[in-house]
Amino acid sequence: MARILLGVSGGIAAYKALEVVRLATKAGHAVRVVQTEAAQRFVGAPSFAALSGAPVLTTEWERDPARGAFPDQKPPSHDPASHLELVRNADVLLVAPATANTIARLAHGLADDLLSTAALAATCPLVVAPAMNHHMWEHPATQANLQTLRERGATVVAPITGALATKGEWGTGRLADPEVLLATVEALVPAGARPWDGLRVLVTAGGTREPIDSVRYVGNRSSGRMGWALAEEAAARGAQVTVVAANVGLPRHPRVTYVDVETAAELRDACVAHFAQTDVLLMAAAVADFRPAQVADAKIKKTGRDGLVVEMAPTEDVLSALASQRVPGQVLVGFAAEHGAQTAIAYGRGKLERKGLDAVVVNDVSRKDIGFDAVENEVTIVTASGDRHVERSTKAEVARAILDTAEALRAPTEGALGAAS
Ligand code: CTP
Repeated sequence: MARILLGVSGGIAAYKALEVVRLATKAGHAVRVVQTEAAQRFVGAPSFAALSGAPVLTTEWERDPARGAFPDQKPPSHDPASHLELVRNADVLLVAPATANTIARLAHGLADDLLSTAALAATCPLVVAPAMNHHMWEHPATQANLQTLRERGATVVAPITGALATKGEWGTGRLADPEVLLATVEALVPAGARPWDGLRVLVTAGGTREPIDSVRYVGNRSSGRMGWALAEEAAARGAQVTVVAANVGLPRHPRVTYVDVETAAELRDACVAHFAQTDVLLMAAAVADFRPAQVADAKIKKTGRDGLVVEMAPTEDVLSALASQRVPGQVLVGFAAEHGAQTAIAYGRGKLERKGLDAVVVNDVSRKDIGFDAVENEVTIVTASGDRHVERSTKAEVARAILDTAEALRAPTEGALGAAS
């Protein structure tokens, strides 16, 4: 969790700053927004206030109802100067979009509105995300101002090349993607500020494909969304995350490392290579239990055949193999796709014991509305000391509950199953 002070200056790309706030709050960060007057001509303060859950300020002359506190803090008993209190509380100051004018004011140390005054008073890392017309971007004055900011330690997130706001204009000047901005901010948050800082997390996601011949395979319907949500949540908590991705076509998070695999054997090799350096293993992939015993080199022809019998051989249980090599301090979470709510928990508990795990996340795959290939999930997290049922919700929310449990399992003395019900 980080406290992000977002300075929005006046350009068309101000609407994309709303998405930055949405992503940041969704990832658990506390956000306060300061707008320039020009920015409010493009996007109104109520939108930023609604998404951040906090008042939005423009000038030093208006009273801050939150008295410089971020949404996760209690306001102080006195009325502090907003520009000083906001930056004192912030872990990072992100200026997005940063117009050519705002960049010039920051480079020259002007302090003529709340954004520029706060920037001058800030001792936290500064991230500047320019967005402007390409001629303004290329102008030597803008480039020199940015160079000045870089030399002072600011991180400049380069704009993207593409179609610009003015009809028919094309060039460099589009604001970087909100996901990239958030990832840049998260990478700058001081070590130790977030709960999973320094932890190494290995996630498996997606579904393996076991070849029958050169073009056909035996696979499953796992989309990888649950593993993706776990990886994103772990990255937002500060962890260094590696995802072993089995056939997943979803968009990738800039701060997560991905290792692509196709088969159960490849997934095993990738997991074995990373497991010794793993603190938390989240085994969300649907790994094939069986694979075709023989794989034909070429495509099997249908001509001259009445049917096709494929003999299947068992694959290795990767999770059990990893569990047998576990060292103290590692937390291992397995997933169980079961049919029928009644027996699912009992099967899940069986897997917990048989595979030597700390938690098993059980979901009922007989339901079409949750789980495999669905956007939402409803699970029960089974641990040795209790079960926690997570009502039907987005996979991001389910991921938060799973990581809360893993966090509690890492610190059992701190009331681990306070999370469980
Ligand atoms: N898993 C694995 N290697 C396999 C199969 C599964 O590592 N070859 C992992 C999955 O990623 C999941 C967990 O084991 O985290 C549960 O898998 P599942 O196939 O449901 O468990 P089984 O013990 O094989 O039980 P079942 O009889 O229900 O298939």
